[in-house]
Amino acid sequence: MIIAVIGAGVIGSAVAKALATSSGKDRIIASDIRVEQLFNLEKEGVKTTMNNIEAAAAADVIILCVKPLDVKTVLSQIQNEIKGKLVISMAAAINLELLKKCAPYAKFVRAMPNLGIIVRESFTAYCSEHGFSSKDKEIVERILRSFGTVAVVEENKMNAVTALSGCAPGYLSSLMELIVQGGTEIGLPTEFSLTALAQSMIGTGKVILETKKFPADVMKMVATPGGVTEEELSELAKYPFQQAFKSILQIGVEKSREITRKLLDEC
Ligand SMILES: NC(=O)c1ccc[n+]([C@@H]2O[C@H](COP(=O)([O-])OP(=O)(O)OC[C@H]3O[C@@H](n4cnc5c(N)ncnc54)[C@H](OP(=O)(O)O)[C@@H]3O)[C@@H](O)[C@H]2O)c1
Repeated sequence: MIIAVIGAGVIGSAVAKALATSSGKDRIIASDIRVEQLFNLEKEGVKTTMNNIEAAAAADVIILCVKPLDVKTVLSQIQNEIKGKLVISMAAAINLELLKKCAPYAKFVRAMPNLGIIVRESFTAYCSEHGFSSKDKEIVERILRSFGTVAVVEENKMNAVTALSGCAPGYLSSLMELIVQGGTEIGLPTEFSLTALAQSMIGTGKVILETKKFPADVMKMVATPGGVTEEELSELAKYPFQQAFKSILQIGVEKSREITRKLLDEC
């Protein structure tokens, strides 16, 4: 099976590299309008082209990794080459209705990964159009599993998934930056704090995933009465932290809706 990756930027190049490892370099063709994006992939032995039509024609499955506002342009270019083929769109806010309007004869999957693809630790949620066969599901899940963990969701949850896990590497990094700045104020070198914090995040995430504990349970396990963590958590509770996270997720969902409305209006 040949897989075309269209758009070889941050996500597309990570997708192409992960697939080259899991499926073999000769099974992947990446396309982009920027030669410099393709150069790095070529160095890793991935076949590349600047012609989306050539990539789509050569492939059995096409993965769209262009920015949301470029999806329509790309689909209009390749609509004849993707008839009857599986197309996985990674674009935020582009719903199945919009994809189908652009290319009615392709079989679409809407997926939302995150930056974890780079190290094969993405959380990727996906939904598919009606009438998806079990063979199609198997192909899609095999592809997405090579990026990390996979979950199926109803399409009406995709904007929420985008806000929560799609954007998580962004807001978690913002949080880490603040904590590391705090680390320098208590005498720790930046690089040391960053390693300590990143490893602590991996460890906490794994404890939650592997022991199935809730964050409240983890907090109880760490915060012994009268201890240091308890003191830190009660200080944290004085700041409007909860409101900030509620607000960023709601704004994320609204931004996706705004992009969808804009693109549907233009159709
Ligand atoms: N970045 C993330 O963390 C993340 C997470 C989840 C989902 N996504 C989704 O993944 C998609 C890609 O995001 P990204 O961050 O990887 O974007 P990116 O780094 O900008 O990569 C997109 C690439 O596609 C190229 N491109 C633009 N028009 C094209 C065309 N007509 N044909 C072929 N290539 C074209 C772009 O070139 P130019 O720069 O010249 O336009 C760029 O090299 C987006 O839809 C985004 O919503 C991203």
